[in-house]
Amino acid sequence: MSSPVSTAVTRFAYGLSQLPRVAWYLGHGLAPRLAEVARRREGPQSRARRRPHTDAPVPDRDYIYAEMIRLFMQDLANVEAGIYPVPADHDGSLLTMIHRSRLFFEDLPKIHRRRERRAYNEVLSKETRGKRPSYYLQNFHFQSGGWMTDDSAERYDTQVEVLLNGAANAIRRQALPQLHEAFAGRDQRKLQLLDIGCGTGRFLDFIKQTWPRLQTIGLDMSEAYLKHAQRHLKRWTRTGFVVGKAEAMPLPGDSQDAVTNIFLFHELPPKVRRITIRECAGCSSPAAVW
Ligand SMILES: C[S@@+](CC[C@H](N)C(=O)[O-])C[C@H]1O[C@@H](n2cnc3c(N)ncnc32)[C@H](O)[C@@H]1O
Repeated sequence: MSSPVSTAVTRFAYGLSQLPRVAWYLGHGLAPRLAEVARRREGPQSRARRRPHTDAPVPDRDYIYAEMIRLFMQDLANVEAGIYPVPADHDGSLLTMIHRSRLFFEDLPKIHRRRERRAYNEVLSKETRGKRPSYYLQNFHFQSGGWMTDDSAERYDTQVEVLLNGAANAIRRQALPQLHEAFAGRDQRKLQLLDIGCGTGRFLDFIKQTWPRLQTIGLDMSEAYLKHAQRHLKRWTRTGFVVGKAEAMPLPGDSQDAVTNIFLFHELPPKVRRITIRECAGCSSPAAVW
């Protein structure tokens, strides 16, 4: 049982690490919304041009904020239960964050124009055709460069955090309790984990904060994102990186103790999802975690 003082210290440290970043990314999300309000005031003509971004039902803001509170309470409960330490989000120095904000805001008008035109395949060009599967060569979420450029890799984490109101890392951490269960009583130095579609390596960072001696491999089809992940994870040892397709993994059968993925499957065509799951099952032991 932890003492009231250590509980208070943990809660204080947790609040100090999470509240400013939620405020930071919520603030980024507010700016485009204010611009949207201003555009609507331009008059009926401008209103008529606007189309909804989706036909699917969209939850209202109150619901989203209530879910966010639940998420952060659960995140803190996981820390207090000793499942993982008070998280270090490693967003970089203030200068780095400001640099990434600038990249984010510079890209917003382009994203807006692509969304208006429903233009999501600008990445498919003479240069890229045939180098990656065609489903991969898209401007996912209408962002510039798709998964193919260094700039896109540098912008990605700000974009995801803004999209998810500063909760992206907390969402990623909710996969750690399942790993905690699967690794219980086992020597982390003898275990190997593969994260497919690891992107810029944010989830792997939390894995290493929890199991620093675990051997990890980040697999991704983007060289630019893997390069970023490698830089982001350079404080850790026992990390490997593989450029490859999740649906045709260049790894030996039964070589992994756990396979994870965050925010990947919704981007894969249904057929590729099935093949990927089969691949993951093939390269992992029966105890692998999803
Ligand atoms: C939405 S991002 C998620 C990144 C990361 N997991 C995270 O937590 O933010 C999707 C990532 O999956 C990669 N990806 C997409 N399809 C892939 C595939 N078939 N094989 C390997 N990587 C893929 C992309 O390059 C990109 O880095």
